[in-house]
Order: sequence, then structure tokens, then C-alpha cells
Amino acid sequence: MPKELKDDPLWYKKAVFYEVFPRGFYDSNNDGFGDLKGVTEKLEFLSWLGIDCIWLLPFYASPMKDGGYDISDFENVDPSYGTFEDLIELIDKAHSMGIRVISDLVVNHSSDQHPWFLESRSSRDNPKADWYVWSDDDSLYSNARIIFTDVENSNWAWDQVRQQYYWHRFYSHQPDLNYDNPEVQEVMLNVVKRWLDLGLDGFRLDAVSYLFQRNNTNCENLPETHEFLKLLRKEIDSRYPNRVLLAEVNQWPTDLVDYFGEDDECHMCFQFPLMPRMFMAVRREQRLPITEILSLTPNIPENCQWGLFLRNHDELTLEQVSDEERDYMFSEYAKDNRMKRHMGIARRFAPLVDNSRSIAELLHSMLFSLPGSPILYYGDEIMMGDNTYLKDRDSVRTPMQWTPDRNGGFSLANFEQLYLPPLMDPVYGYQSVNVESQFKNPGSFLQWIKKLITVRSNYQVFGSGKFEILHDDNPSIFAFLRYFEEQIGASELIEENTVVEVDNIEIIDQTSANKVLCIYNLSRFAQPAELDLSKYKGAKLVELSGRVLFPQITESPYRFTLGPHGYYWFEITDQI
Ligand code: BGC
Repeated sequence: MPKELKDDPLWYKKAVFYEVFPRGFYDSNNDGFGDLKGVTEKLEFLSWLGIDCIWLLPFYASPMKDGGYDISDFENVDPSYGTFEDLIELIDKAHSMGIRVISDLVVNHSSDQHPWFLESRSSRDNPKADWYVWSDDDSLYSNARIIFTDVENSNWAWDQVRQQYYWHRFYSHQPDLNYDNPEVQEVMLNVVKRWLDLGLDGFRLDAVSYLFQRNNTNCENLPETHEFLKLLRKEIDSRYPNRVLLAEVNQWPTDLVDYFGEDDECHMCFQFPLMPRMFMAVRREQRLPITEILSLTPNIPENCQWGLFLRNHDELTLEQVSDEERDYMFSEYAKDNRMKRHMGIARRFAPLVDNSRSIAELLHSMLFSLPGSPILYYGDEIMMGDNTYLKDRDSVRTPMQWTPDRNGGFSLANFEQLYLPPLMDPVYGYQSVNVESQFKNPGSFLQWIKKLITVRSNYQVFGSGKFEILHDDNPSIFAFLRYFEEQIGASELIEENTVVEVDNIEIIDQTSANKVLCIYNLSRFAQPAELDLSKYKGAKLVELSGRVLFPQITESPYRFTLGPHGYYWFEITDQI
């Protein structure tokens, strides 16, 4: 039975997100490009998987030189993706299935093909002359780093028409909008309202840390940016209930948390610094990279939430690690130079972990239990591979593999027409890796992750509970508690429990579970663990996926044996 969309302003704290690249998801009209109708046609699958919110990559009109992040009309759908009506149909149908839909909003820049830019560049005194950042001097703001270091050598580009330089933080075909101009702020707020009026549930705010420029600063995280975000949040709060703003801010934890403000800026921020450290920890077989970054991460306001991810449509970014750590990551995960892009690694999850099922389960169960809401990237639920021979980040944007049939069931167009070739190699090709066969196979990764989603969704403590790391002398063991501070009388709540079934195992909907213990073995060998759980003396452990009862907790250290890359989630309860 489909879920219902609840009137819940904090829905994003419990949600499991799923990132869709509409171009690569499903081609409904067989022209070789995935489209919005294609996403609508696959909603049944997403509903079966159990996700709560789709994040759509940009679908706005665009010359598509940067996957649609180069927008030439913020107010319309790109014709290759379909129509306005297709978007409304997608949102309405998703909502009827209890699934929310957010989309990317590229606030920082537009395409150089946008009519605003064409007008702005036409002279120094046209009505939009100051809508972009122009200068005669390309040495201004020289403290700002270049983001795409491998393809751009300056943040300024010379414009032949206006005979001036314009500012761009990303590709030179993506001029930055000038937020010092109140007209620009206003027009972008109107863009936001246009899409929210259609029913979108919020936005991922792309590249939102670069909105302003000031001399002698690195032009990131400036106070003016936070003021604009407060204004945006105020507008949303005043007219649009239950919406979410998810900040894409690739910064160090102390700068990152500023984007929550005092719960008056963004509701969510991606946990960028944690992500590479999860890969580091599993390769080093030690918890330290994870525990260290978590200890450097300040607390965030009660209603705010981290967005946790392992992979996305970009390179696995290594901006938030030290030079030494970056070298380590490149040497371990990008053995071939063609796997490197910008300041990161353009590979998908499965090839990064050498297609290891045990590491995939370990990292995903961590992703689903650490503080935050997990975000899955399309195709990672079937452990799709990549094609590092494709340019830029196309390596991780190949067509979704639905079936073992022609073009992986993505499209009936001729192979030559497809926006990118589907994978066809013997290990990751669509004949071996596809939704249809994994759906039929109870032991598949797809079925495993569906079950993980169900278990997590049944325990609210993963979304909103507090977090405490437990010490173990064994450096390969990572253990922590998720708990609610208020000890609600569990016996009262137990009557409210409902029972759902996954793989014939009954899972009790324990919204009442207020203490969960998670324990992970980061090593490829079996490991012993000993945890001091004495403060819960007398309580018992119940393993969450099978509701298996473990021995009672005593004064003595509680001993576990974990298999290679093993993990457990336990409820700590005295109600049994
Ligand atoms: C997006 C990228 C894009 C860049 C420029 C990023 O943060 O995730 O895919 O290339 O913004 O728009």
C-alpha cells in the first residue's frame, strides 16, 4: 500500500532521499534521452523501494554543457525533458504515493546562453548591465580559489562583446549572477516561488556558498550570502509549509554548520567532509577518519539535519581532506589517471569498493544509521558500474539498467541515439546488473537495501535521535548509540506498534525504540569487540533486522564477534 504524505514540517529528518538524473533514468518517448515522464513511469519502483523523497537534477532549459547546471531559462522545462505538465504530473503522482519531490536550483550562475547574460554583455549601460559580475581588472578577488582546476585557469573570462571580464566560479560558460544587485535577488526569489507554487517540496541549493564576492576574502561563505539565505528562508516559511532547503556547500564542518543559521537558513546541508572519510576508514580498516571528523563537527539546531551520501552525480570530491589524505585516496581509489576529475574521483560506488558486497553493506548500513538522512544515487541500489572513458562526470551518469534487454531497458531508441552508451562489460553491464533480475533474486543487493530502508524507516531514532560514540580498544571497531533523551514509557507505546513484513520477517514498527546500538567492523578480517554497556545493566539487545534476542547486559564488558566487514544494529530494551 502506498505511503501517505503526512502534514509534517520535519519530514526530511526521517526521510530516505533518492537522487535522479532524469536524462539517465528512463526514456519514455524513445528518443534516446531520459525524461520527466520516464521518471513518472518508474515511480512504482521507487515506491516499492521505500524511498521518501526524490531529488531531481536540473530539468530547466539548458544547452546541457554541464549536465543542465548551465541554465538558459530558469522558468521553463528543457524540451528534451518534456513539458511543464509532465513535471506537474510527476509531482502529483509522486505525492499520491507518499513521495516528495525536490529539485536542484542553481542559484549562483546561469548559462552564457541565458537571455539575461546576452543582454548584460551587450553593453555597459543596458538594463541588465549589472546582473553579472563585470570588471576591467582580472586581478580582482584573487584570493578566490579555482574550483575546476583541471579545466579553468582563472575565475575571470574575457568577453569580446562587452570588452570586459566576467566572473565565473565554475566553467567559463557559467557566468555568476551578481547578488549585490537587488533585482537579481528578487528575480531569483520569484523563480523559487514559481516552482514551489507547482508543488515542489523544496530545493537542493547548488553551489550556494559562492553568491557574493569581496576583495581580500576567498569569496566563500560571506555574511551577505547568509543574509540572502535568511531572506529566502523567510519567504518560504511565510507561504510554503513543509518545504526543505538542502544546501550544497562543500566546506569544512565549522563553515558548513553556519548554513543552518539558527534554524533560519537551510534545513539540511550535505555532510561533505564525512563522505571521503568513510571510504578512507574502510580502506585503512580503522574508525579514526570518521570519529575524528565527527568530533570536529559542531552540533546543529534541533530541527536541522545532515544529508548523508556516499556518491552522487559529481566526482567523489576531495576538497575537504588534507593533501596527504588526498594522495592516499587517489592512490587507493583512482589507480588510473583517467579516474580523476577536477579535485576528485569520477567513479561510482560499486567499482570504488571493488564490487564487494560486504563493503557495500557495511558502508550503506553506516550511511543509514549515522546522524542525518541518507541520500542514494540512482543505480547504486543495484551496484551499477561506471565508464571512466567518458568525459567529465559522464562516467557516473550512464543509463539506468532496468532489464537485461536492449539498452538495458532504458530506451527503445537505436543505440547510436542514446545520450550516453549503457554499460555492457561482463561485470557491470546491463545483462548482469539490472533491476529486473535483482528484483527477482531475494539475495540481491537491491532486495537487501530495500530491507535496510524499511528497517530504518521503522525506527525514528535514526532520523532524530542523539548520537554518542562508544569506545572500544580495537581500532577497527566503530560503535555508537542513537537514542532519544526522553525515556517515553515504552510499555504505553508498544500498544501502538504495527507490524510490517519484509522477506517474511516481521518487523515491529517500534517508533518507541529509544536506544539503538550500531556496531561496525571496518576490517576485512573477523574482529572481537568489547563495549561497556553497564549503564544499561539488566536490559537486552534485540538485533533489528531479524528481531533476534541477544543476552542480557551485565556489569561486565559486552563481548561481540564481528565477521569481516560485519555490522549489527541492536535495540537496547528492558521491555522483553
Ligand atoms: C553541481 C555540479 C556542477 C556545478 C556547477 C555543482 O555543485 O553538483 O554538477 O557542475 O555545481 O553548477
